[in-house]
Amino acid sequence: LTVAIVGCPFRCPRVGVDQGPIHMVEAGLIKQLAELGWTVKFDGHHQFEEVNAIDDPPIGILKNPRLVSRVTQAVAEAVGGHAKKGELPVTLGGDHSLAMGTISGTLDAHPEACVIWIDAHADINTAESTDSGNIHGMPVSFLLGLGSKIPEFSWVKPALKPERIVYIGLRDVDAGEKRILKENNIKAFSMHEVDKYGIGKVVEMALDHVNPDRKLPIHLSFDVDALDPSVAPSTGTPVRGGLTFREGHYICEAIWETGLLVALDLMEVNPSLADPESVKQTVTVGCSLVRSALGETLL
Ligand code: ARG
Ligand code: MN
Ligand code: MN
Ligand code: MN
Repeated sequence: LTVAIVGCPFRCPRVGVDQGPIHMVEAGLIKQLAELGWTVKFDGHHQFEEVNAIDDPPIGILKNPRLVSRVTQAVAEAVGGHAKKGELPVTLGGDHSLAMGTISGTLDAHPEACVIWIDAHADINTAESTDSGNIHGMPVSFLLGLGSKIPEFSWVKPALKPERIVYIGLRDVDAGEKRILKENNIKAFSMHEVDKYGIGKVVEMALDHVNPDRKLPIHLSFDVDALDPSVAPSTGTPVRGGLTFREGHYICEAIWETGLLVALDLMEVNPSLADPESVKQTVTVGCSLVRSALGETLL
């Protein structure tokens, strides 16, 4: 049982500004996973220094397209390489645009894998629908092959089918994204459904949709902003009304219990954005979500 930590201190516009992964490793994540019985591989954080220097004017309104493309492509190769060796890649971010890479890597190794995306946001804007031009709001559309093709991102294969992704935790979805979700029949459980049914039922319904026979490999992509800002304050785009501490952990525990987890992302931990106490709280909760997804039990 080997876990491979892929540390990605990356957030646009510059590599290295996002110290989230560094903080999580410094908080002892590797030792904590070893204590759970895992063999942990960690060769240091990705640096991506060469891409940091490239000239990168916007394409349309998309910001830093070449940088994001090259970083995510490198991450796809790293994650895919670990997965093909039978290791479980745990990617720490960093910008959620990284999921373009992590999920590409997973699907390369496990083409039939499904994705469970935990987030306040749908991150499914296309080049046409985005208002912000931030690629962290777009990775899912690239993976699905939606929107106009951008030559810079031609390496991303549209390998994800709309019925193989499900969302939990949404509460800040752009009008264009709501349309895209409907048009493509993509299943999403917003905070409204979490309130209505409870998190236990929501996770069960999400798995029934995306993995009805409970036999497909699972990629769990967890954006820490799915949690309520009172639980995880240090993140770039906090939205009130989010998952409680326990709801977040329950999701991770329930996915682990399926025995089908093949890859995990823990994204958008951003220590540059808050006071030291909030940073510590967010980093600590990030580490404990990873532990729950990797088999830590309460008893
Ligand atoms: N929907 C907004 C956008 O497209 C916000 C996306 C937030 N995503 C994130 N990974 N922080 O810009
Ligand atoms: Mn971001
Ligand atoms: Mn996200
Ligand atoms: Mn988010």
